Amino acid sequence: MAGKINRRDFIKKSAVTSAGAGMALGMRNNAMASTIDYDREDSPNGRITIGFIGVGARAHQVMNNVLRMPGFEVVAMCDAYTGRIERAQERTGGKAKVFRDHRELLAAPGIDAVYIGTPDHWHKDHAIAALEAGKDVYIEKPLTYTVDEGIEIIKAVKKTGRILQVGSQNISLPLQIKAREIIASGRLGQITMIRATVNRNSAGGAWIYPIPPDANPQTVNWDMFQGPAKKHPYSLERFFRWRCYEDYSGGMATDLFVHVMTTIHYVMGAQAPEMVTAAGSLYRWKGSRDVPDTLDAIISTRKVSQSI
Ligand SMILES: NC(=O)c1ccc[n+]([C@@H]2O[C@H](COP(=O)([O-])OP(=O)(O)OC[C@H]3O[C@@H](n4cnc5c(N)ncnc54)[C@H](O)[C@@H]3O)[C@@H](O)[C@H]2O)c1
Repeated sequence: MAGKINRRDFIKKSAVTSAGAGMALGMRNNAMASTIDYDREDSPNGRITIGFIGVGARAHQVMNNVLRMPGFEVVAMCDAYTGRIERAQERTGGKAKVFRDHRELLAAPGIDAVYIGTPDHWHKDHAIAALEAGKDVYIEKPLTYTVDEGIEIIKAVKKTGRILQVGSQNISLPLQIKAREIIASGRLGQITMIRATVNRNSAGGAWIYPIPPDANPQTVNWDMFQGPAKKHPYSLERFFRWRCYEDYSGGMATDLFVHVMTTIHYVMGAQAPEMVTAAGSLYRWKGSRDVPDTLDAIISTRKVSQSI
C-alpha cells in the first residue's frame, strides 16, 4: 500500500474491494485507508459524498469512521426512528440532509455512494434501488435475508456497472490476510476441518436491546420498518430487537455465522457451502423471539480454489 494510488486502481488491484467509501466505512485499519487518493473522476471537487440509509447502531460506528476520513462527506440520511436521526445529525454537525425515506434520498442530486445499515429484510430492496439510482453501495452483512436475493443483487450490479461491497470487515483484518497466506503456502498441510463457535451469555448478547423511552408511534415509523416483510401489529420489540424474529432476520445463522463463514471462506479460498446439516432450538430466551437461541451446523465445502 506504499504511495498513493487512485481509487479505481485500488478497487481493481486490492483484495480489499471497495464501494466508494467502503474502505473507510468498514476497515479498522485506518492507517491503510489514509494512504489512498480518493480522487473521483466524476466528482468535481474530489470528495465522495455519502448518503446513509438506516442510521442505527452499526451505522453510527461506521459514520464515526467516515467523518474522520479526509475526502468523504456524509450529506444525507434517512431512518425509521427519529431518535437515531437526531443523534446522527448531531454527528454531522447538522450538515447532512434528512430525507423521509430511501426513495427520496436516492432521487436527490449530489450523492455518490450510499451506506445501507437497515435490518436484513430490507437489504435487497435498498441495495437494488441504490444501484439503479446510479450509486455505489456499501451494505452491511449479511448481504441478503435469503439466498435467492443475492442472485438479484448480483444481476443489478452487472446491469448498472456500479460497485457494491458487503460490510464483512473481518476479512480486511491483517490477521485474516496473514492466515490466508499461510494456508495457501501449504505450511499447514491439507486442512480438512475448521471448528468455529460464537457464544454469548447475556440478554444484550441475545439481542434483547433496550427500547428507548421516547419510542412511540410518532417517533417510530412502523410501516417503513416492516416494508417487504410479513405484516404485524405495531411492536417496539420487533422494531428494536428485529434479529429475534424470522420475518426480518435469519437469527444466528445470518447475524453471527456470517462473520465466521465469511472468514473461513476467505482464509481457505473457498467458494460456497455444498451441504449443510443444522440443528437448533429455543432453549433459554423463550418469549422474546421465534429464531433459535442455540444452533449447530456442519457445513461441507469441497470447492477450494487452487490459486488464492
Ligand atoms: N459489520 C458488522 O460487524 C455489523 C455489526 C452490527 C450490525 N451489522 C449489520 O448492520 C445492519 C443494521 O444493524 P444494527 O445493529 O445497526 O440495527 P439497528 O436496529 O440498530 O439499526 C437499523 C436501523 O434501520 C432503521 N430502519 C428500519 N427500516 C428502515 C427503512 N425502511 N429505511 C431506513 N431505515 C430503516 C431503523 O430505524 C434502525 O435505526 C444489519 O444488517 C446488521 O447485520 C453489521
